[in-house]
Amino acid sequence: MKILVTYYSETGNTKKVAEAIYEVADFDKEIKPVQAIQDTSGYDIIFCGFPVHAHSVPHKVIEFIKLLPGTQKIAFFSTHGSLRGGQLPKQAFEHALSLAVKSAVLGHFSCRGQVNPKIIDALLKNPEHKAWGEEAQSALGHPDENDLADAKTFAVEMLAKARK
Ligand SMILES: Cc1cc2nc3c(=O)[nH]c(=O)nc-3n(C[C@H](O)[C@H](O)[C@H](O)COP(=O)(O)O)c2cc1C
Repeated sequence: MKILVTYYSETGNTKKVAEAIYEVADFDKEIKPVQAIQDTSGYDIIFCGFPVHAHSVPHKVIEFIKLLPGTQKIAFFSTHGSLRGGQLPKQAFEHALSLAVKSAVLGHFSCRGQVNPKIIDALLKNPEHKAWGEEAQSALGHPDENDLADAKTFAVEMLAKARK
């Protein structure tokens, strides 16, 4: 079984999670940014990761998911500034799932990722976005060791599921 771990990452958070997943994949494997992928044929399992942008999936990842031929098993992962378990990151997965209609989706994982300080500054200056700015501020240091350990557990579970 050939595994592809692919991700979109602007500040490195999602890339860290991708690398943790890649580390535990025990078969023939590759890790590449989503922008570097021309063709997914030849892979059996794809881990596809993205940062949550505006409660949804970044454009480049939407394009990637839409082009999946439907012959692979897919597992999604994401990082987000908001608190874990919140409703909004869930919406992003729902969007990703709705695009991957042809593929068998194994599952998904998400954890927090620290938010670009420039964005936080802008949010804190705007009374309308202050609460979200404070929440985003508390993501500093994520993904941390625990998040990466959770990502590895997720990857092991997804691989076991894919082999069934
Ligand atoms: C343009 C933009 C929009 C974002 N929108 C959200 C959002 O809607 N919800 C959220 O929880 N985090 C949001 N974030 C925070 C990122 O999802 C988070 O910092 C993520 O870990 C960044 O991952 P990366 O380093 O792989 O790019 C946003 C970040 C950017 C740059």
